[in-house]
Amino acid sequence: MTAPLRLAVLISGNGSNLQAIIDAIEANELNAEIKAVISNNNQAHGLLRATRHGLHTWVIDHRDYADRKQFDDVLQHYLQTIDPDFIVLAGFMRILGARFVEAFADRILNIHPSLLPAYKGLNTHQRVLDDGATEHGVSVHLVTAELDDGPIIAQTSYAVERGDTAEDLAARGHRVEHRLYPQVLRWLADKTLTIDGGRIYHDQALLESPIRYQP
Ligand code: GRF
Repeated sequence: MTAPLRLAVLISGNGSNLQAIIDAIEANELNAEIKAVISNNNQAHGLLRATRHGLHTWVIDHRDYADRKQFDDVLQHYLQTIDPDFIVLAGFMRILGARFVEAFADRILNIHPSLLPAYKGLNTHQRVLDDGATEHGVSVHLVTAELDDGPIIAQTSYAVERGDTAEDLAARGHRVEHRLYPQVLRWLADKTLTIDGGRIYHDQALLESPIRYQP
């Protein structure tokens, strides 16, 4: 068996994706260990989830720093001491600067509640409804300096039903996120998926379009 994937998970809020990753590890469905859970918000519920599972937590409050660069530098220094294989953004509501992203090139992942490149940014569910779209979904992508713009690794889609509210879509989206994120990490852990120079390889072949994962 290969060495467990070393993860640092960054959160700002509820941490349900963090929970899904913890659950997959504890169920022996994911060969990984979470070296630290980091939050920019000391009230994040995800910190409680982490503590309950005996994980190391660290709060870095962005309001304590004069600008984003200072915040990024402290976060970068801390992460370099942990040296994770992957930095897993799971509802982390801070934009990371180019220097930070470069320092961890090919090692930062994010999950976003839309079928990227559609609906970057916030309020994706309401925007999908406003457009009358019939398909929606979630994406796991590599993080680059541009918001929600890095190479897309994998996506799960789901139907928008008549009468759905933004809350309905958020709940459905969360359910699929909780399957998709652990699955992508599983592929990385077993080296089915590798990333090099911003290119993603699946089964050693260059990924031409995102993996469609429909659990
Ligand atoms: C998720 O919907 C994710 O797509 C977005 O932030 C949300 C985080 O939810 N980036 P949670 O904190 O994991 O419950």
